Amino acid sequence: MRGMQISLDHPLLSRIVDDLATRGWSQHDLFLPAPLTRALAAECRRRAAEGELAPAGVGRGPAQEVREGIRNDHIQWLEPGDSDACDQYLGLMDGLREAMNRGLFLGLEDFECHFALYPPGGFYRKHLDRFRDDDRRMVSAVIYLNEDWLPEHGGQLRMTLKDNVEHDVQPTGGCLVVFLSGEIPHEVLPANRERLSLTGWFRRRGNEPF
Ligand code: OGA
Ligand code: MN
Repeated sequence: MRGMQISLDHPLLSRIVDDLATRGWSQHDLFLPAPLTRALAAECRRRAAEGELAPAGVGRGPAQEVREGIRNDHIQWLEPGDSDACDQYLGLMDGLREAMNRGLFLGLEDFECHFALYPPGGFYRKHLDRFRDDDRRMVSAVIYLNEDWLPEHGGQLRMTLKDNVEHDVQPTGGCLVVFLSGEIPHEVLPANRERLSLTGWFRRRGNEPF
């Protein structure tokens, strides 16, 4: 694969693995290099301008439906080879996948991810990332692509942690949040400006339920 590699014993990766093991989530405000963040943001905007993003659904398989009362972002799934920037991102996520497999024995075999654009007023109500009928998703990873995000813009990722403690993440460019898909309920608070992200899920092997 083209693009950057991240060493398996990079201190960032071991911190993410430790955080996941001890508390189920991890946050790094400066995970992506700024030029890569800018390239990915530009690509997300280009895809949106060319009409490639589509309203996101809720649920999976034939039961999937668009429900704007639950989420109203627009998404497009990534494929390897889409662009250099996307491949660099996929390379980083693959390094993270290997580090988690080494440190947590999760048996993560693949990674699915999409660009997401929340238009002004966008939100995603509280949910878990694991489907009732498909438990392959183990770890969620969100990277933000927004320049100069301020608290008054809204759009925070609000995670509900142990003892119902809430933790808010500002969707500032370059920030990575990783959490256990089946354990941490979370929501995207309404934003009053466009909000861009790349969201992905590390999956273990399983049988397609449909
Ligand atoms: C999701 C999600 C969070 C975010 O797409 O499932 O929870 O901050 N996204 O974009
Ligand atoms: Mn989610």
